Amino acid sequence: MKFDIITIFPDYFGAVFDYGIVRRARAAGLVEIGAHDLRRWTSDKHKIVDDRPFGGGDGMILKPEPLFSAVEGLTGAGEAKELAGTRKRVVLLSPQGRVFEQRLAAELATCEQVVLICGRYEGVDERVAELLATDEVSVGDYVLSGGEPAAAVVVDAVVRLIPGALGSETSAVNESFAEGLLDFPHYTRPPEFRGRRVPEVLLGGNHAEIARWRRRAALLKTRRNRPDLFARAALTEEERARLEEEANGC
Ligand code: ADE
Repeated sequence: MKFDIITIFPDYFGAVFDYGIVRRARAAGLVEIGAHDLRRWTSDKHKIVDDRPFGGGDGMILKPEPLFSAVEGLTGAGEAKELAGTRKRVVLLSPQGRVFEQRLAAELATCEQVVLICGRYEGVDERVAELLATDEVSVGDYVLSGGEPAAAVVVDAVVRLIPGALGSETSAVNESFAEGLLDFPHYTRPPEFRGRRVPEVLLGGNHAEIARWRRRAALLKTRRNRPDLFARAALTEEERARLEEEANGC
């Protein structure tokens, strides 16, 4: 698959994709990642990509024309509607987007091309979200100074889901969020550190008991740290009842 990142700071991506799984996936030819300077698609002498907002206000807004030209140049499609039924997506990164989740990462991992548009300044002309992007995506409820770190996050989360990118095909299935729960706690040596012992069950070899402990620990951690996920998690009646019993007992 191919990622094309449209940005006014292509050098930002100099090294972020040169490590770990993303580096390996690139080297294996599973993914190609290009960072493209938006100014390449300007037609004026000064390569202007932004302008003042209609209605007044602070800051500058990314103009639509260079972004539309860039996406057309990279995908062959001038508007999002032309991409319906294809395996190409145009993702606008912005704090106004829907929140990026594992489900969307998995969907994007099946695409042949994903274009990522990095917003800058105070915003991006809304016609980009209306007509050009297939998706408007935020990486969380906070404001970054631009879409570049968000693009790096999306690429990383998607690349590790491309078949063959992880050492073992099952790794991505078992991990955090695959089931809508946080991952269970992990421990390594030493068995005691700063007065904290590794749970006894993990030191033995009873795999059924270990699996039960991990499931319960994942549920407890999710309930504590992410009550929103916990409320939506697919628990058996028995699991819910047992956790509730424990909660009432504490
Ligand atoms: N650009 C600025 N803030 C962002 C966010 N939270 N997600 C995606 N793009 C952004």
